Amino acid sequence: MARRTLKKKTKAKAKPVPQDQPFVVKKSRIAGKGAFATRDIKKGERLIEYLGERVTHAVADARYDDHATDAHHTFLFNVNRSVIIDAYVDGNDARFINHSCDPNCESEIERGRVFIDAIRDIRKGEELNYDYAYGRDGTETEEDETDLYGCRCGTRKCRGTILEEISKAAKKRLADKAARRHHPKHTVSRKAHRHD
Ligand SMILES: C[S@@+](CC[C@H](N)C(=O)[O-])C[C@H]1O[C@@H](n2cnc3c(N)ncnc32)[C@H](O)[C@@H]1O
Ligand SMILES: [Zn+2]
Repeated sequence: MARRTLKKKTKAKAKPVPQDQPFVVKKSRIAGKGAFATRDIKKGERLIEYLGERVTHAVADARYDDHATDAHHTFLFNVNRSVIIDAYVDGNDARFINHSCDPNCESEIERGRVFIDAIRDIRKGEELNYDYAYGRDGTETEEDETDLYGCRCGTRKCRGTILEEISKAAKKRLADKAARRHHPKHTVSRKAHRHD
């Protein structure tokens, strides 16, 4: 199963979250509801903190099954190896910001807290978005990429999937690793061959 997580980034800087949220939530042409700027926003502005229940990866995996529906849909954000924010529980409007392969925002992780910042000037009325770059675990098929995790951002740079972009070689390495997890006997025999 793919890690149902959103893109993360770590930088050491402290910016205030604005008192007046500079966007509203309404229907999006990309997916369900989205977040739309209610005023012009300057590059670098902090827009909102991504809030929700903080749970372990095991709890998040137990709560949601990617393959239970035709299209993937969760409100999870991968903070680090031990914490995932589940914005389905106690989440705020940050959870409605959709993914784009050519985004105008990015996520920032600061001391375990997640913020959404503008990475370019945004005009009033524009939809806000950032690159989810959902983590992979090697079990995703070509079909999963474009069906289950298909992207509808509609930009020229669209890569067709909300999964993270990785090279073919890295994809193969992940798939091999996943296969070894699912067939542990193969792992043993391969190791034995390498030692010969
Ligand atoms: C955190 S929610 C975003 C809010 C969502 N639009 C809603 O109304 O609940 C994340 C989910 O929205 C959908 N989504 C967001 N961006 C997308 C995109 N560019 N293409 C396809 N689906 C997208 C996917 O189902 C994803 O799992
Ligand atoms: Zn796209």
